[in-house]
Amino acid sequence: MDSHLIKTINKLQDAFSTVGVQNPIDLPQIVVIGSQSSGKSSVLENIVGRDFLPRGTGIVTRRPLILQLINKRDGLTTNSAPASATQSPKLSKTTSHSNANVNESENNEQNMNEWGEFLHLPGKKIYDFSEIRKEIERETELKVGKNAGISDQPINLRIFSPNVLTLTLVDLPGLTKVPVGDQPKDIERLIREMILKYITKPNAIILAVTAANTDLANSDGLKLAREVDPEGVRTIGVLTKVDLMDTGTDVIDILAGRVIPLRLGYVPVVNRGQRDIETNKAISKALESEKQFFEHHPSYKSKAQYCGTPFLARKLNMILMHHIRNTLPEIKIKIAASLQKYQAELAQLGDPLGDDVTSHSNLVLNIITEFCSEFRTIIDGNSNDLSS
Ligand code: GDP
Ligand code: NA
Ligand code: MG
Repeated sequence: MDSHLIKTINKLQDAFSTVGVQNPIDLPQIVVIGSQSSGKSSVLENIVGRDFLPRGTGIVTRRPLILQLINKRDGLTTNSAPASATQSPKLSKTTSHSNANVNESENNEQNMNEWGEFLHLPGKKIYDFSEIRKEIERETELKVGKNAGISDQPINLRIFSPNVLTLTLVDLPGLTKVPVGDQPKDIERLIREMILKYITKPNAIILAVTAANTDLANSDGLKLAREVDPEGVRTIGVLTKVDLMDTGTDVIDILAGRVIPLRLGYVPVVNRGQRDIETNKAISKALESEKQFFEHHPSYKSKAQYCGTPFLARKLNMILMHHIRNTLPEIKIKIAASLQKYQAELAQLGDPLGDDVTSHSNLVLNIITEFCSEFRTIIDGNSNDLSS
């Protein structure tokens, strides 16, 4: 389904560009929020399926990272317009088991089809993803020093790949209360405002990350998400560090909505721990361990299909498809209206090129109609994925 979604979007974008409409489907931005060291960067990285984000204990993410995934196909020049969102092999349905491994190369292996480019280093293509991480670290230190300083000035990174949907992901510093190092006294307010700037946009999908070995009632991420999305229509709860919970405890009550219910539900995940980071454990291995964990844990084994990164990716996929489905009728109306206007104008002018314009526009309308019904089938067939 992932590749299906990517193909669909590509086909739509191509059709639209023939009638001069650029990026008509403004896909949502996915924003991770939560307390410091709750696992936000780890979750994001697992979703993308590549190792490239600085992670670790303490305040590691110190400037917003705006990550645009850009679908780049062979033989096509990518326009430099703001990308649509990209989706990685992760966001797929069919890959739910071996998810990230599908077309993913091993850790840090270079693949000439996939590269990153920073806004502050125009024209420089970086193929080695560990170099991308180093550049994020360098650029962070350049602006805010080595001593825990933070800034709301974002780092802009684009990742070009044939395996992603054009989509934007945002990694943010974590909520924290006590200033350390070079942090100002009002660090709590500063970070809060920084986060609010991104999650207030109605187009943002909020991944509210809470470590499972902390109290959900005190979750800073959930509290903040509720301020901007009280109905919970665009907030997914992500429970990290499920592997670090005390023996005999689990997150079943949370998943069942008996603690703080969320309309889109919660997904428990197991990311790489600090030791795994130090030993460079590959994402593919980490996903395999995650799968084993849920399938063998007494509390989760009966519901393992609703646990882990692949399920989170599927949930995001479904939300994106709902978004596309909801957006298409509006686009269709706009195109139909401009088509009528064109036809009227052309009729008056007696323009011999008129047929061309008309047939292009009709082609676009047909494609949209086709996709609308296709999406409806897919979404209806999977709608229980979204409820929980
Ligand atoms: P962030 O500050 O919220 O971006 O969190 P990071 O992604 O940088 O992770 C913080 C620390 O928690 C790192 O040492 C990670 O290895 C560790 N970590 C994150 N998620 C998990 C998890 O699910 N299990 C375990 N054991 N460690 C995790
Ligand atoms: Na951290
Ligand atoms: Mg982080």
